[in-house]
Amino acid sequence: MNYEERAREQAEALCRAGHATILAIESSCDETAAAVVRDGREVVSSVISSQIPLHAMYGGVVPEIASRKHVESVDPVVDEALKKADMRLEDVDAVAVTYGPGLVGALLIGVSAAKALAYAAGKPLIPVNHIEGHVSANYIAHPDLTPPFVCLVASGGHSHIVRVEDYGVYTLLGQTMDDAAGEAFDKAARVLGLPYPGGPLLDKLSREGNPQALKLPHVQTPGRYDYSFSGLKTALINAVHKLRQNGQEVPAADIAASFQHAAVELLSDKAVLAAKETGAKTMALAGGVASNSGLRNTMNDKCQRAGIRLVMPPPILCTDNAAMIGSAAFYRLMRGEIAGLDLNAMPSLRLV
Ligand code: KG4
Ligand code: ZN
Repeated sequence: MNYEERAREQAEALCRAGHATILAIESSCDETAAAVVRDGREVVSSVISSQIPLHAMYGGVVPEIASRKHVESVDPVVDEALKKADMRLEDVDAVAVTYGPGLVGALLIGVSAAKALAYAAGKPLIPVNHIEGHVSANYIAHPDLTPPFVCLVASGGHSHIVRVEDYGVYTLLGQTMDDAAGEAFDKAARVLGLPYPGGPLLDKLSREGNPQALKLPHVQTPGRYDYSFSGLKTALINAVHKLRQNGQEVPAADIAASFQHAAVELLSDKAVLAAKETGAKTMALAGGVASNSGLRNTMNDKCQRAGIRLVMPPPILCTDNAAMIGSAAFYRLMRGEIAGLDLNAMPSLRLV
């Protein structure tokens, strides 16, 4: 029996049993991560090696540097995840990996490593969409959560409102027309002189400022649940340039607070509207921006008022990690979705 026949047979047996312990790998951007996850819900171990300090001096992720660092980190990170789980490769049931969306060179490192491990151990290989991973972080944080629910996915590269109909079944309700939410936060932070990635620093700074200090436009979009952040970003840049040209002091905390307030209102208004109008009883947050303190608080208030249950992962599961990939992988495996050794990186992979 060749590898693929054996992997298919094993995947079918795991499906029938309804249980699987999965080794997952994530390398789509600037984090090399590995985790061992049991039955899609329980994190046995999770290791994240961040490259942020390497890229900070360039003001953003440099793809070539990211790929080289992933090459160095992937084996030690996988070894550490297995060690922390007190397991050997033979003890896991399957190997999962993010195959898109993301930086092609970065994705290829994880995909190649996962293929080699799956082949060496003779285990099924499970391909995972990175955005589906972010959504699935909620299954780890809330073991009782089951579809259907509406999810706001706000990360550095994506801003979507999706309805999760079932495991692996998504309806796109809205998305950004231009910048992703995290990208907008990072650009606003850069104008204020904060280092990359500025989102978390802007969040921190905004706690000391007045959110009403700067009037920012209320952005209109053609789609009811669509986003646009570029108008907000341009208004902020213009306001800061004007202050500088006039030789006035730039009140960074006030500007950060005003931007965060405007962005959070926009994100939360549309997400809650989408949940209400589609009759959702549960709303979930996902992606790096779901760590934002203003977004978490405002969503809490608005969902409570609308009678909608709000769930969100802890910040460590919002940022890129492999535990969320292991969770998404479990439900793919239960549907029999495994990949062959011809699996390739798909930089522009879509969720729907
Ligand atoms: O999901 P993620 O870790 O990576 C992608 O898949 O893109 O998201 C990273 C993005 C960055 O733009 C980062 O600045 C933003 O999430 N972010 C935040 C916060 N924490 C991370 N933005 C605003 N407030 C935060 N607290
Ligand atoms: Zn991400």
